Amino acid sequence: MTERDPHRPYTLIAELTYRCPLRCGHCSNPLDWAQHRDALDTSAWSRVLAEAAELGVVQVHLTGGEPLLRRDLEPLIAAARRADLYTHLVTSGVPLARERLRALRDAGLDAMQLSLHDADDVNADSIAGVPVAAHKREVASWAQSLEIPLTINVVLRGDNIDGVDAIIALAETLGADRLELASTQYLGWALANRSALLPTHAQIERARSVASAARARLRGRMEIVLVLPDYHAGAPRACMEGWARRFVVVSPDGRVLPCHAAGSIPTLEFERVGGVRSLAEIWRSSPALAAFRGDAWMSEPCRSCERRAIDHGGCRCQAHHLAGDAGATDPACDRSPMHHVVVSAFHDSAPSLVQLRARR
Ligand code: SF4
Ligand code: FES
Repeated sequence: MTERDPHRPYTLIAELTYRCPLRCGHCSNPLDWAQHRDALDTSAWSRVLAEAAELGVVQVHLTGGEPLLRRDLEPLIAAARRADLYTHLVTSGVPLARERLRALRDAGLDAMQLSLHDADDVNADSIAGVPVAAHKREVASWAQSLEIPLTINVVLRGDNIDGVDAIIALAETLGADRLELASTQYLGWALANRSALLPTHAQIERARSVASAARARLRGRMEIVLVLPDYHAGAPRACMEGWARRFVVVSPDGRVLPCHAAGSIPTLEFERVGGVRSLAEIWRSSPALAAFRGDAWMSEPCRSCERRAIDHGGCRCQAHHLAGDAGATDPACDRSPMHHVVVSAFHDSAPSLVQLRARR
């Protein structure tokens, strides 16, 4: 596949491990994460990175779980740099010491995204399930002193969204270049915990207005991105910018996926890297990647909808989990015959949170 091929992916999401020391109830990693062990060693991941660059990928997100748990993160970053990929570390910052962050930068790290949970340490530690809020602020200060471009990411949920003003102020203090206020994506553990996590419509509206005022005030200093929840909008998001279109995900066990959650769709069999077929060959001809590429798979109401080229029919994983059919219209869409399951989620009773155990 050449640089001019319009169907190449731009971004590789390298899920280095599902292990993680934190216990966030909004995690979208699979419920059966323990059955998917880290199968790729340093040389297998280095080959994936080189093959991704050959395929036309320009940037890699090293993520997890917690990628810092990989002892070979430095050589993997060096391999990404050799392949000429822009290298982005997506991390909780745990466990991390300043010297390791310096080593990661020296190996070729271009930027990092650090997750925070709230500006209020007590609530942040309660969401993480472990006391890490103060350490995370220290990690942000190291990124600043080591001149590593920093994005702060906060997953918004009902129990932290009212603090969005304080979160913005904290990100400013920490010298972030960019703040992502991301609504919870209700898949994996987050779907199991949905009733305890969903904010109300009023909470969302207030966050929207606070973020919009801050965006205007901080223009040119800190970019603020607010990703609104599809549950509230009545319209689905363009998940992954379309199935197997711009993003390719490689999971810890080597499966080549269109998104982080597609492995939970039981009707699809995803190929693995490390066999005879290269990443490019898998990308071009894997039946599971072809299953929902483009729009030929769509049925009504998507097939004749004027938005199908904008949202690509929404999220296939959400359609599978909420409508029982990965090929159905995403129930987040108010034109879906199953939209009532999203509407009724706001009336679920007895919210309770299943907190993950730390995954080591
Ligand atoms: Fe998108 Fe399909 Fe809904 Fe139209 S009907 S807005 S294409 S999900
Ligand atoms: Fe898989 Fe949206 S998360 S298609």
